[in-house]
Amino acid sequence: MRVLGIETSCDETGVAVYDTAPGGGLLADALYSQVAMHAEYGGVVPELASRDHTRKLLPLVEQVLADADMARGELDGIAYTAGPGLVGALMVGAATAHGMARALNIPVLGVHHMEGHLLAPMLEDEAPAFPFVALLVSGGHTQLVAVKGLGEYRLLGESVDDAAGEAFDKTAKMLRLPYPGGPHVAKLAKQGDPGRFRFPRPMTDRPGLDFSFSGLKTHTLTAIRKLDDAGELTSRGRADIARAFEDAVVDTMVIKCRRALDDTGLKRLVVAGGVSANVRLREGLDQACAKRRAGVFYPRGRFCTDNGAMIAYVGARRLETGERDVTGQMQATPRWP
Ligand code: KG4
Ligand code: ZN
Repeated sequence: MRVLGIETSCDETGVAVYDTAPGGGLLADALYSQVAMHAEYGGVVPELASRDHTRKLLPLVEQVLADADMARGELDGIAYTAGPGLVGALMVGAATAHGMARALNIPVLGVHHMEGHLLAPMLEDEAPAFPFVALLVSGGHTQLVAVKGLGEYRLLGESVDDAAGEAFDKTAKMLRLPYPGGPHVAKLAKQGDPGRFRFPRPMTDRPGLDFSFSGLKTHTLTAIRKLDDAGELTSRGRADIARAFEDAVVDTMVIKCRRALDDTGLKRLVVAGGVSANVRLREGLDQACAKRRAGVFYPRGRFCTDNGAMIAYVGARRLETGERDVTGQMQATPRWP
């Protein structure tokens, strides 16, 4: 089955074609990022995001079909992100997918954005086998999930307040770094002194697999204010704070992943979502998994953040089992647990 995947939940327009036939795999993928446009406003402006998706989506569809050397009529199905995300942005992808599917008379299916992230490592040559523990860390989610197979997910724990990526983005704002903040905080932290500050590792001193990052955010803000009052909010001071913040978030996530592997007895860890691009997180998890003789799997950098390939993959796997949207009923679900 050759499936077109469409991702428009936030500020990236992603399109890809995935082929489920042996020797197939990912045939083409293209991405247009709106990040530069939203950076001017310090965050995503929903109305501008929707408008930009309408401008970029169809040209990207044409581009991936050309890259895959395919005609539209050779598609066997279409998958799109049905949520969660910005409702206007989602509607662009949903309406385009349903319109194309109706015209081509092929099945169409709305998929969950986080299932895309969860299974993105399946696009790699060294894909994980089921079952595994997954750490999903993005701008909107921080979750630990036990994954038995396609669609067989058990939530082990999640953030009770801010997501890890959100904490990175808010810390970046406090340090006057550009949007999206994660990579900028990570870059600044590299120059920081790990011994100067020690920030708390929230919810690690009690059992359980939930996370909380809003207290850490307040702690960071207090530390920044103190430095500022002392006239020490220099580039060195800011780097030391970025380092203490990153150390605290990374440590917390490593501790919880170790616990999740020990509790479930599983021997594979999958890490996905935008924050999985973080180098120090990867180093910490690599070490923890090596100690337990557990395998650890990440998507390639490009597939850590939002992309069409992960949606094409999940859609293809589900369409293959016969799942599909009711004809004419497009889905756009901004909040979808
Ligand atoms: O998965 P994603 O692209 O979009 C959502 O579905 O949210 O994740 C974006 C998040 C942002 O919060 C961004 O700051 C964070 O991932 N991020 C990082 C890094 N690269 C992206 N956070 C920490 N370190 C990074 N290197
Ligand atoms: Zn995402």
